[in-house]
Amino acid sequence: MSSSLHGPKVLLCVNGGIAAYKAIEVLRLLQTAGCEVRVASTEDGLRFVGAATWEGLTHRDVASSLYGWAESAIPHIMLSEWADVVLVCPATANTMAKMAVGIADDLVSTTLLAVPRTTPVVVAPAMNVNMWQAVPTQANLKTLRERGISIVMPVEGRLACDAVGEGKLASVDQIARAVLDAADSRTSSKSMASLKVVVTAGPTHEAIDPVRYIANASSGKMGYAIAAEAARRGACVTLVSGPTALDSPEGVERVDVVSAAQMHEATLRAFDDADVAICAAAVADYTPAHPADHKLKKAHEHLDVIELVETADILAELGRRKSRDGRTRVVVGFAAETDDLVANAQAKLVRKGCDLVAANDVTREDSGFGSATNRVTLVSESGIRELPTLTKEEVAAYLLDEAERLLRRS
Ligand code: PMT
Repeated sequence: MSSSLHGPKVLLCVNGGIAAYKAIEVLRLLQTAGCEVRVASTEDGLRFVGAATWEGLTHRDVASSLYGWAESAIPHIMLSEWADVVLVCPATANTMAKMAVGIADDLVSTTLLAVPRTTPVVVAPAMNVNMWQAVPTQANLKTLRERGISIVMPVEGRLACDAVGEGKLASVDQIARAVLDAADSRTSSKSMASLKVVVTAGPTHEAIDPVRYIANASSGKMGYAIAAEAARRGACVTLVSGPTALDSPEGVERVDVVSAAQMHEATLRAFDDADVAICAAAVADYTPAHPADHKLKKAHEHLDVIELVETADILAELGRRKSRDGRTRVVVGFAAETDDLVANAQAKLVRKGCDLVAANDVTREDSGFGSATNRVTLVSESGIRELPTLTKEEVAAYLLDEAERLLRRS
C-alpha cells in the first residue's frame, strides 16, 4: 500500500517485557513527528501495557489475536500491508528468535512474517543481560541484520532484574529517529520500485585445504553500496556476498557464499526473475583443482605446486542469459584494471555480453580494493564517461542512474 498523505504509517509491535511502558513514549514521539501509528501486541505485551492505553492513544483497536478482530478477518495481512514501517519495541529474545526462523504462532509473529520485503523493519531489543548475550540470541541478531532489518542496539544499564549490563532498551529518541529514518528512506525517490536487482560483492575464497585458501583484497564496500542504493530506490535487492566484515544494507536480502562456484550458483538462481544484475565481486578466476580434505602437513605434504582450474565466469553467463524468456534485463560488470583501462573494459563489454562496464582503476590509492572512494570510467555501446574520484556510494548512484536509463531504452 502507498504512503499516507499525512505521514508514514507505523505498525508498533509490542512484546512482553518491562520496557513495554517505554513504547508508549516512542509512540507519542512518532505521533508528534506526524506518523500514524497502530499497535499490535503479544498477549504477554498486554500484561505490561493494557489495550486501554494503546487504544486511548491511537484511537484504534489494538490487535492481539489472529481471530475475532473487529477490523479485519485476516489482521496479519491487513496490518503488514498497511504499514510503511514496522517497529518491534520492545523486542524480546523470543520474538527475535521467531523472526529469525520464521515462526508464526501468534498475531505479532505472523504479522512480522507477512511484512513485504520492501517494507523496513526496525527492531529495538530489551532483555536480561544473559538472555541478550546468549549464543542463540546473538546468532538471531546476526540473521536479522543480514536480512537488512535495522537494529536499535540495547545499551548498558540497570535492568529490571537488578543486574547491571547490556540489555536496556535504547533511548526512546533513538528508536523514534530510527523509525523516521527508515520511513524517509522508503518514501524518497522510488525510481526502481517493482524492479529486482541482483548484486555480487566481495571476494571469493578458494579452498586449498580446510584451513588454507586463495583470496583477494576486496572488502565488499563497492557492491554493498550498490545494493544499498538500489534498495533505497525501492528495488527488491538480492546481494550475493562473498566473505566480508560488512553489515547488510537495510532492506536487502543477502545470500552469503564463500567460493566462486557458490557465487555462480546463487547469482544465476537470483537472476532468473531479475531486471538488473551488477557484478562488483572480485571473483577468483582460478580455483585449486584438487582441494585436500585434510590440513596438508608441512613436513611431508609440500605445497610446491597447486594445480588450478578456471572458475565459471558468472558475468559472462548472465550476459548469455539476459534476453531469455523474452525479458529485458540489464547486465553491468566491473573491470578491475592496472593498465589500458578503457581498452580492456571495452573488450570485456563485448566478450561478456554486458550493457555497461565500470572500468575500475585499481592502481590508485583512492580507488579499487578496500578504499572508501573509487575511480571508474563508464563504458557502454553508446560511449565512454570518465567520472572523478567519488565515494563508493556516489559511484553506486551513477551506475544505477545509467542502469535505469539502459532499462528504459531497451
Ligand atoms: O570490494 P571493494 O573493496 O569495495 O573493491 C571494489 C572492487 C575493486 C572489487 C570492484 O570495484 C571491482 O572492480 N570489482 C570487479 C573485480 C574483478 O574481478 O574484476 P575483473 O576484471 O577480474 O572481472 C570482470 C568482471 O567479471 C567483474 O564484474 C567480475 O565480477 C566478473 N567476474 C569475473 C570472474 C568470474 N569468474 N566471474 C565474474 O562474474
